[in-house]
Amino acid sequence: MKVGVFDSGIGGLTVVKSILEHQLFEEIIYFGDTARVPYGSKDKNTIIRYAIEAVEFFKNFELDMIIVACNTVSAYALDEMNESADCPVIGVVEAGVLATANSLQMRDANILIIGTNATINSKAYEDALRLQKFTNLNAKATPLLVPLVEEEILSGEILNATLKHYFANIERPQAVILGCTHFPLLTYELQTYFGKETKLIHSGDAIVEYLQDKFNFYKQCKNPQLEFFASENPEALRTIAKRWLDV
Ligand code: DGL
Repeated sequence: MKVGVFDSGIGGLTVVKSILEHQLFEEIIYFGDTARVPYGSKDKNTIIRYAIEAVEFFKNFELDMIIVACNTVSAYALDEMNESADCPVIGVVEAGVLATANSLQMRDANILIIGTNATINSKAYEDALRLQKFTNLNAKATPLLVPLVEEEILSGEILNATLKHYFANIERPQAVILGCTHFPLLTYELQTYFGKETKLIHSGDAIVEYLQDKFNFYKQCKNPQLEFFASENPEALRTIAKRWLDV
């Protein structure tokens, strides 16, 4: 099985990491639209246009599936991508909602959703969580966390000040949906900030669970073939991929 993984930049590598850990595909083609990141501040039509261009790029590879490792694109452009692709396109929002539903017993659990402006404005998570009967939802756009991760500022004063800026007035949640694939890189700091009782929902782990549940995917390949592409400075993305993924 050959999969394409798409994100606006490097954040989707967190999803690749989960896929690699679970050995789900034989070949992984990653495309980060680094020339145009961030998507989270763009409007719906632009996000859809960029997402369809990514589908066109992936048509060069005869893929079995495309995973949208970007919450912003998953929230706005999944239907359009599915219409123009010649393989199934799956996104991280539905997967994240299912992972949340599987991991929380109580439907009145206090859930905080964080993501880009576009993801939060779309209300994609809230709408889907309400369909699962969750009632106690709070959503907060945290766009500054995206450039911090892109700059690899994963701890320290600037990050702590940013977390305080966003979360100082927020009641401690029982779960936080990391509604942006950049945010798992901040897991340690977010877990420390909210405390160990708070469950963090990670798009990469969620998509693995989703592939196992819905598509019956299990271990396929220990050493998949990996290729990394970017719309700008692919070498920089490859260097980060090597470091983060240890490949
Ligand atoms: N990684 C993208 C997401 O999951 C967001 C980054 C961006 O703003 O492009 O939403």
